Amino acid sequence: MTQQRTPLVEMRDISISFGGIHAVDSASVDLFPGEVVALLGHNGAGKSTLIKILSGAYRRNAGEILINGQPVEINNPRDAKQFGIETIYQTLAVADNVDAAANLYLGRELRTPWGTLDDVAMEAKAREVMGRLNPNFQRFKEPVRALSGGQRQSVAIARAILFDARILIMDEPTAALGPQETAQVGELITQLKREGIGIFLISHDIHDVFDLADRVFVMKNGRVVGHARTQDVTKDEVLGMIIMGKVPPGAVAGPGAAQMA
Ligand SMILES: Nc1ncnc2c1ncn2[C@@H]1O[C@H](COP(=O)(O)OP(=O)(O)OP(=O)(O)O)[C@@H](O)[C@H]1O
Ligand SMILES: [Mg+2]
Repeated sequence: MTQQRTPLVEMRDISISFGGIHAVDSASVDLFPGEVVALLGHNGAGKSTLIKILSGAYRRNAGEILINGQPVEINNPRDAKQFGIETIYQTLAVADNVDAAANLYLGRELRTPWGTLDDVAMEAKAREVMGRLNPNFQRFKEPVRALSGGQRQSVAIARAILFDARILIMDEPTAALGPQETAQVGELITQLKREGIGIFLISHDIHDVFDLADRVFVMKNGRVVGHARTQDVTKDEVLGMIIMGKVPPGAVAGPGAAQMA
């Protein structure tokens, strides 16, 4: 008998409307430990909205969310954090004028028994976590402002890891980065997978994420067109799903699949 793995995240039949617009319409996605799932689709397809329901920014109108197989209520970002869900936004929430260690501990600084800031302990922990994620990173003493986009990403991700994130949401993580920095984020993602963290990568550009992803889900008009393992489909076939809603043989059709004559 094969053992059925439990998904880290399951979103089932999720819907949300804004006024009359069905931004997300009965969409289902799942994510396993150590897996990268790309969420693809044109501008306005509903990707960010679906994932904001997982991160607690929006409340769904219908559907279910399961974490490790258990139904959960996520009503705000605090709930999401309690389930180990962290979001890395494209506009990175890092404090530019302080260094990496200060960023990792922003708002929950370590203190000595005398109540003063424990800079030594914070820097040691920062070196440990950053060293795991990005061994080449050495610029611990500089304000984050002086770092490259890829290095800033690693600071933001290290911060999430320090919060015990098990589920990482990255919305357009490489959109503002150059090729070298994009490669750096790719290495970071590989390292996070090794640690068993599950990652949702959201992008409107398949080229940004196809090679990083284990599976892709394609959304169109708020619905899931289909999903596939990246090893079972070509980039062109996924483009066909994004543009025409056409589901190739290697993919599983969702409720948003086009009715092909
Ligand atoms: N707060 C909101 N109020 C009203 N409409 C919204 C809101 N958020 C999203 N929408 C609408 O929901 C739909 C889906 O938007 P969403 O931001 O999820 O798309 P997306 O797939 O992330 O697109 P992009 O690639 O441009 O980021 C769009 O039609 C958008 O206008
Ligand atoms: Mg978006």
